[in-house]
Amino acid sequence: MNASTPLQEQEPLFYLRGVRYRYNGRQLALDGIDLDIHRGEQVVLLGANGSGKSTLLKMLDGIISPSQGTMRALGQEIRAVAAGEDAFHFHREVGLVFQDPDIQLFSATVFDDVAFGPLQLGLSAQEVKERCAEALANMEATHLAKRAPFELSGGEKKRAAIASVLSLRPEVILLDEPTAALDPRTKWLLLNLIRKLGEAGKTLVTTTHELEIVPLIANRVVVIGEERRILADDTPERILGNRDLLIQANLIHENLHQGGLNQILSSKTAWQD
Ligand SMILES: Nc1ncnc2c1ncn2[C@@H]1O[C@H](COP(=O)(O)OP(=O)(O)OP(=O)(O)O)[C@@H](O)[C@H]1O
Ligand SMILES: [Mg+2]
Repeated sequence: MNASTPLQEQEPLFYLRGVRYRYNGRQLALDGIDLDIHRGEQVVLLGANGSGKSTLLKMLDGIISPSQGTMRALGQEIRAVAAGEDAFHFHREVGLVFQDPDIQLFSATVFDDVAFGPLQLGLSAQEVKERCAEALANMEATHLAKRAPFELSGGEKKRAAIASVLSLRPEVILLDEPTAALDPRTKWLLLNLIRKLGEAGKTLVTTTHELEIVPLIANRVVVIGEERRILADDTPERILGNRDLLIQANLIHENLHQGGLNQILSSKTAWQD
């Protein structure tokens, strides 16, 4: 999708109105989502277990479409994308790192998984190699390239899965709990990478349960409540400063998080280039 097309100027990248989703026509996962996401925003999605974060990311990725409501993404009806219409084009622009890396990794080696997207794009062998080398290096996963994904540890799988999306160099990157299972050094690398991708103008939507990383990677926070509707949509500072909201959304617990929020809010000062 060309960034300068009139359609892109008229409407947000993602436009959702009254979106509901039921799995198998039964299990309610989203219950009336109104949301606009604009090009270049870095959004963090917060919500308790089962609030619908992964479901929403799968919908932004065009894998599933609303049971009810209106949704367009990159100027296309998401129902058409989910039905396979022009899906190849869509997935050049939008990449999702799944919460469960086992869904992402299906090839005989990590390298093959990371090369899969670029090969689909029809790039030259040299460019595929360059993209894979860069994506693997970004995730400190170069040494894993020849390993079989199913033999890896949980954190190693996560790194390989993230590399397999980075190698596509999508404009929109959806990350479902990307730091879960990562050791501190790899987590720090990834947070820096997310920040740099944001500074380069990419659109990023990240889910997490780790409140301390939110100010580092977001300029906007959307909170989904346990009723599976949007409870708040504001700056990281205002969301993280609202203790009652965080307790209501089951993002902190009054007996577990006492006095920790100021520390979280000041973590933005941690960046050093
Ligand atoms: N494949 C599925 N089939 C049926 N119900 C599902 C399926 N996947 C998710 N759900 C249900 O949909 C609701 C939203 O799930 P979702 O995975 O989107 O939550 P989440 O916010 O990502 O939670 P978590 O923090 O645990 O990852 C939950 O009630 C869940 O049980
Ligand atoms: Mg989830």
